[in-house]
Amino acid sequence: MSFTITLQSKNEIFTAREDETILAAALRSSHSFPYGCRNGACGSCKGKIISGNIQYGEIPLTGITEEEHETGFALFCQARPISDLIIEAREVAGVGDLAIRKLPSRVAKIEKLSHDVLRLFLKLPATERLQFLAGQYIDILLQNGKRRSFSLANAPYDDEFLELHIRHYDGGLFSEYAFHKMHEKSLLRIEGPLGTFFLREESDNPIIMVAGGTGFAPIKSIVEHLLGNSLKRIIYLYWGARGRQDLYLHELAKSWADQNKYIHYIPVLSEPGKDDQWQGRTGFVHNAVLSDFADLSGYEVYTCGPPPMVKAIQKTFVERGLAEDYIYSDSFEFAPHG
Ligand code: FES
Repeated sequence: MSFTITLQSKNEIFTAREDETILAAALRSSHSFPYGCRNGACGSCKGKIISGNIQYGEIPLTGITEEEHETGFALFCQARPISDLIIEAREVAGVGDLAIRKLPSRVAKIEKLSHDVLRLFLKLPATERLQFLAGQYIDILLQNGKRRSFSLANAPYDDEFLELHIRHYDGGLFSEYAFHKMHEKSLLRIEGPLGTFFLREESDNPIIMVAGGTGFAPIKSIVEHLLGNSLKRIIYLYWGARGRQDLYLHELAKSWADQNKYIHYIPVLSEPGKDDQWQGRTGFVHNAVLSDFADLSGYEVYTCGPPPMVKAIQKTFVERGLAEDYIYSDSFEFAPHG
């Protein structure tokens, strides 16, 4: 049994197979609906059911509020049609043209950037390059069908090596391997490019970027991409971390701002240690933005990092006037990133 789904804004139709989510059916039918976690947590896949009925499975849905649910919104990554539907959804321009591929890669270089962050440079076979949009991620394919997701930190044009920032988690399936066993020339299988967190280039609006921890990786890709394309957009880059050592590429971010009048770099520490001798901003990074901007209308926000930070931004920035459609986020759920 299958159901017909009509995309109201375009009057286009696609079909969902039995037990298929709206998102899975859309992606299969070349509709680039936005999504992030695909497990009901981040809210990126939210859209509206205009008519028809859906059902959810057992997974807890933390990415949608009761109020949104009652006003017809649904998480398309979890909602399965049980009748024909008419829906309203945003579509992502750009990623549909990029082929998602599985490729072998070799670890070309490993750098320790801090006590718990590694930078890996992966080299694809000589005849291969991975085309991606600044901000997207790849999956590293592990044994037994497991996978771990990591944002690409290099700009798309600078694609000789794929750069990843790996944070260490105790017991993390991939990070334990990366910190203790992996060496240069180790082989890794990857799949990508993935995700709908990428720079929207058709706009001139000023950008506020908010990175938490290794959420700096895709932000670095976006900034370097803009720099490589003669940056003309104003960027306020906020990077939140616990202590000074967690700002693992602080000098690089500072150099962007020192050399470019369009970039403003604001590092924010939540728990600076005495040894840090920190004289910069402190507290939660999203609060630093809120105290700097009385009105966020007219800005676009790109944010990547831990789910509580991303959720706080989605809520408080909209209350401060930011248009909901202008928040682009990538929420680091623990499981895919360990
Ligand atoms: S993609 Fe649906 S909630 Fe994250």
